[in-house]
Amino acid sequence: MSARPTTSIPVASRISGFVYAIRNIVAEARRVEAAGTTVRYLNIGDPILFGFRTPPHLIEAVDRAIRDGHNGYVPSVGIASAREAVAEECARRGMPLSPDRVVLTSGTSEGIELALTALAEAGDEVLVPVPTYPLYTAVLAKIGAVPVFYRTDPGNGWLPDLDHIRSLITPKTRALVAIDPNNPTGAVYPAAIRRALVDIADTHNLPLLADEVYADVAFDGALPAIAQHNPDAPVITFSSLSKAYLAPGWRAGWMAVGRTDRLDDVLAAVKKLADGRLCATGPMEYAITAALNGDRSHQVAFREALRERSNVTVARLNAIDGISVVAPSAAFYAMPRVTLPPGVTDEQYVVSLLRATGVLCVYGSGFGARPEDGFFRIVFLASPAELASIYDDIGTFTAEFLAGRRQ
Ligand SMILES: Cc1ncc(COP(=O)(O)O)c(C=O)c1O
Repeated sequence: MSARPTTSIPVASRISGFVYAIRNIVAEARRVEAAGTTVRYLNIGDPILFGFRTPPHLIEAVDRAIRDGHNGYVPSVGIASAREAVAEECARRGMPLSPDRVVLTSGTSEGIELALTALAEAGDEVLVPVPTYPLYTAVLAKIGAVPVFYRTDPGNGWLPDLDHIRSLITPKTRALVAIDPNNPTGAVYPAAIRRALVDIADTHNLPLLADEVYADVAFDGALPAIAQHNPDAPVITFSSLSKAYLAPGWRAGWMAVGRTDRLDDVLAAVKKLADGRLCATGPMEYAITAALNGDRSHQVAFREALRERSNVTVARLNAIDGISVVAPSAAFYAMPRVTLPPGVTDEQYVVSLLRATGVLCVYGSGFGARPEDGFFRIVFLASPAELASIYDDIGTFTAEFLAGRRQ
């Protein structure tokens, strides 16, 4: 018998570009835990981990669907009642479209992947905000397309630099991504910015990929659709039950393709891709119907809890020497900045903070920021009391780090 080969089996080179810092940094956290330090995970935006609970009527809807025998494949575009509910929700928000333009997806994530796969060839360019939610760059790496970063400005409430966006458009540009409300910054874009983004999409015939997964968790109340400024512009909106309906593990999401016939081919391509993966999670689609047609009072309490945590975060972090943070207006993320000494990176600061205190944040370069700029992202879903104790630890550690007593 010939000897069994021992060389390791190679993986595709595209994998090296698929980087998702939010989870990658957990490997270091596990080592810190193994060494006996309790880790406080502020890296993943999952409200369930911090005691928030899925509304009971959604659980009942899934439970009923399973008991009623809805356990087979569902249509690849999703069940009719949920697609209708999404279309009605879009219309209420100012983006009227027919249910036929809705595709139910495994979370916002799958919608993003389907849209980018349908739109971009290898070598094509997609305009992505920096800092960005890292799935965009990861999926583009997988496709072989190129993320072209446009600035969002911490000196101006993390709003997008519209002139910069316009200057980056080339014949290879295939889409413009807007994340509003934003992860990682917590920014909500004012109407004038939203209108300008829609105008750019409309005049350049570029699909605006509107990631609106946090639209219901803006502290001042649910937001209209970005596309409301021109429902005939080429806008595709994405959302899910993950955040505003407190069910991230269900992977229940949707995308809705704007009503313009300019997007008909894109819609057909997305449906073709969706056929290949059979369907999203069937029983959970019944919860989409229940969520969008039912009681949303849990969101009032959730938004208030988030506002309180945001206030603690902003007050406490801005009181630390060497740290400043722009106040978030939505969601559960803040993107503080620490003034780093020359030659030190955001990752070194975050890993050192983790080792010294067990507090796990994500370094800004994981979202595309420059490593020397010293940004890091905090998920502020923990209780206000726990957050206060975490910020005490960050303050003590940062003073030592900046004095050169920690590396
Ligand atoms: C901006 C943004 N888009 C998409 C997602 C993915 O959400 P989903 O759970 O719906 O796939 C997240 C998750 O954190 C996000 O922050």
